[in-house]
Amino acid sequence: MKKETALLITAMMTFAMMPWQNTEMTVVQAEETSAEEILDQSSQSRHRLIVYFSRWGNTDYHQNVDASTSASIILEEEQRYGTTEYMARMIQQYTGGDLHLIQTQHAYPEDFDTLREYNHSEMDTEIFPILEESDLDITQYDIVFIGYPIWAMKVPQPIFSFLNEYDLTGKTIIPFCTHDGYGAGSTYEEIAAAIPEATILEGLALKSGEVPDASDTVEQWLREIGISQNTEDEKNEIPITITAGEQELEGILYQTALSDEIMEYFPLTVSMIGFGGREFYGGIEFIPENISSGQLNFENGDITYCPQNNTVAIFYAQTDRPNLTMEVIPIGKVTSELDIFEQLPGNVDITFRLGEEN
Ligand SMILES: Cc1cc2nc3c(=O)[nH]c(=O)nc-3n(C[C@H](O)[C@H](O)[C@H](O)COP(=O)(O)O)c2cc1C
Repeated sequence: MKKETALLITAMMTFAMMPWQNTEMTVVQAEETSAEEILDQSSQSRHRLIVYFSRWGNTDYHQNVDASTSASIILEEEQRYGTTEYMARMIQQYTGGDLHLIQTQHAYPEDFDTLREYNHSEMDTEIFPILEESDLDITQYDIVFIGYPIWAMKVPQPIFSFLNEYDLTGKTIIPFCTHDGYGAGSTYEEIAAAIPEATILEGLALKSGEVPDASDTVEQWLREIGISQNTEDEKNEIPITITAGEQELEGILYQTALSDEIMEYFPLTVSMIGFGGREFYGGIEFIPENISSGQLNFENGDITYCPQNNTVAIFYAQTDRPNLTMEVIPIGKVTSELDIFEQLPGNVDITFRLGEEN
């Protein structure tokens, strides 16, 4: 990989004040340090987390809201995404890792003017909205992307609620944001000031209207700051074997906090049921804790975990019903031919084990 120079912002807090207050902070910019050198330091365990805040997921929208009635919604294949959420998912597509939506307990107002006033009062009175409870275990991650929409030229307050709640000391932090023309402003410095002793890599700001077509820009940025592509990085994939009835298949597990947790139960036999000509699924007897945001679609070969009904599934064929009714989190993939799933009986024990296990 080409050695790229990263913009490092080292924030040194001189007073034990609240991080978002206007402290005497020294921001050392453009230190000539290779991003690769920084990332190598954490190469033992390179779990990546992409946390983001978006209006979508945090707003009392009326039921039929869509991209034509709210500027903050991107509609794709009948799925609605927040603008920053969409960018977060682009990053995940390239790097792998877990997604986490920062959700406040109180939803924000839908009406833009009301929201603008609400936000101003939150900022002026330094209110840090209470976040929804979450099982997120931040200690599992070394590289944390932090995404947000620009609100009144600043970082929205829920991001600071998150930074208060979770200890990011010593981690590599990568900010990203979406906006309507203002750019990132000084928000990366705001983030740096709130996380003493973290390494902050150069962020990316995308104009909201350009987000849906920005995957090349996102990839180029990630390459430039030294983030490897998940699919090309074998260290991020763990070979597994899957025994389905009499058949033995090969696959991989992504190295995420959730799949690590599930892997602890290997060899894991799940009594599965064929469903809809597209998947086999079955319940597991433990409840994983490292739950990240899921998705309502699948690729053939996906091995997934569904938090809502505590099941593991293997998807093997797209059908004329590509959308799922419950969110699933991909934890790995079957890499062998998928035809055998067409031949399996409706009820079958499927065993997952590490590549070398018997
Ligand atoms: C309360 C509020 C304040 C905003 N302030 C700014 C701003 O100062 N500058 C700007 O360029 N965009 C501003 N925007 C636009 C958002 O940053 C932009 O639409 C963003 O992509 C929305 O992301 P989301 O869909 O993930 O919430 C503001 C939007 C809201 C709701």
